[in-house]
Amino acid sequence: MSVKVTDTEGLRRIRLDRAAKKNALDHHMYTTLSEAIETSPGVILLEADGGDFCAGNDIVDFVSLASHEGAVEDLPVFRFLKALTYAQMPIVAAVQGQAVGVGTTLLLHCDQVLMSEEARLSLPFLKLGLTPEGGSSLVLTQRIGHARAFEWLTSGRAIPASEALSTGIANRIVAREALEAEALRVASQLVALPLSALIEAKALMRQPNLVWAQIVREGEIFLARLKSPEAAAAFAAFLKKA
Ligand code: COA
Repeated sequence: MSVKVTDTEGLRRIRLDRAAKKNALDHHMYTTLSEAIETSPGVILLEADGGDFCAGNDIVDFVSLASHEGAVEDLPVFRFLKALTYAQMPIVAAVQGQAVGVGTTLLLHCDQVLMSEEARLSLPFLKLGLTPEGGSSLVLTQRIGHARAFEWLTSGRAIPASEALSTGIANRIVAREALEAEALRVASQLVALPLSALIEAKALMRQPNLVWAQIVREGEIFLARLKSPEAAAAFAAFLKKA
């Protein structure tokens, strides 16, 4: 399994476990992640094995998605995005190394984000001939303002942890070796709170219907862009290197 799920005393730890592929998310991982989020009995801690948090959507799967003809909501990645958008339980994320594409946009749906000092976020959609996904065109803009969101999304540059912190995407930066323990400490503080009050508080602070409508709108455009010659060329170049 490329995703490990463990439960202990009000905390569900969900760990990406595909370090050899930089934790790139494939269809199966999206399904396991969705189930783990949808059924979580308590606070969620999202973590990853290896040197990098997540290299985004699996590029091989992107190639097969390009021939998808049905509704976007039928796809495992959209089940995952829906699970994140409507998650009742608070989600804490611990990010090391690179977080690319959906590896970054998923963080916008988490409630606390800890990053290690060397961690980097990147949103390479435009460079790949694609468009923003995961609600980022709405949520990133709301969180950091249009000018910065536009620049992050169009440049595709690596955003250092310090900039993620100063723009309010991350809560805290910690040393790489302290990341896991610190994330566990933050999650445990949430576990100690009355769960029903925590659920109500999170619900008050989120507008999932608005975000979900944008995710579906983005998804329709994104799926069309996957069929574009620019995206096909970018995927072919990546796969040739692999
Ligand atoms: N999909 C599928 N496989 C991926 C992947 C992805 N998104 N990202 C990395 N991998 C695989 C590589 O093909 C390679 O596999 P191999 O060892 O079998 O050849 C392995 O993971 C290691 O990746 P590599 O590129 O050698 O690592 P790196 O440290 O040099 O670079 C990244 C790390 C994340 C910068 C780089 O892998 C990358 O750019 N990945 C693609 C990111 C991307 O564009 N995602 C989609 C966003 S919309």
